[in-house]
Amino acid sequence: MPLHLLAHPLAAHIVTHLRDETTEPATFRRLTHQLSLLLALKATHDLPTRDCTVDTPLERATGRVLAKPLVIVPILRAGLGMVESIVDLFPDVSIGYIGLERDHLTAVARSYYCKLPPLAGTRILLVDPMLATGGSAVNALDVIAQRGGEDLHLLNIVASPEGIRAVETAHPKVPIYAAALDRELDERKYILPGLGDFGDRLYGT
Ligand code: PRP
Ligand code: URA
Repeated sequence: MPLHLLAHPLAAHIVTHLRDETTEPATFRRLTHQLSLLLALKATHDLPTRDCTVDTPLERATGRVLAKPLVIVPILRAGLGMVESIVDLFPDVSIGYIGLERDHLTAVARSYYCKLPPLAGTRILLVDPMLATGGSAVNALDVIAQRGGEDLHLLNIVASPEGIRAVETAHPKVPIYAAALDRELDERKYILPGLGDFGDRLYGT
């Protein structure tokens, strides 16, 4: 499944400010919200709709409403920063949580929490700002698929070529939506040029 990169000039503008090491957590959070909104719009452009009728104050009108329930699953902790703006767009979403943390030495993700709503028949947006080795995303996609999730979409702010390859290999049908595709990983498996540790910058830790 191809990688879908945001082409909007505003996305490039926001990513540049997220990369800037002088950007403070309050601004970093606001920019994350804005970018998550753009990503969510792109990842839901093909949501199915169904016909309906409503009575306006003047007459009966036909219209269309969303026909498939939406589930957002943030990968804790950094993915939480992407949830609020998506909930603003789609107030009826259900939210699941997957807690994964990379070991600082091995960069392998360890699972510490998982709580998911019913997934059958839903569009699932797995959100995590950074796709580095892809270990966290593949781990989360495995869990979601094992719990019956089928219509899976991955939303990242910055992706690496290695992470894209890992997801494409393990879950070839999952589309990936990202705001930036960066060059490579460093020896500690951080994305270059990247923006550093997203969770630390988001939460000021
Ligand atoms: C970061 C990021 C991703 C993961 C990406 O989380 O938010 O979840 O690393 O790396 P990967 O593709 O190599 O798995 P981290 O483990 O630092 O936890 P945090 O969100 O709690 O800071
Ligand atoms: N997690 C981050 O927060 N940043 C990276 O560059 C890689 C993993």
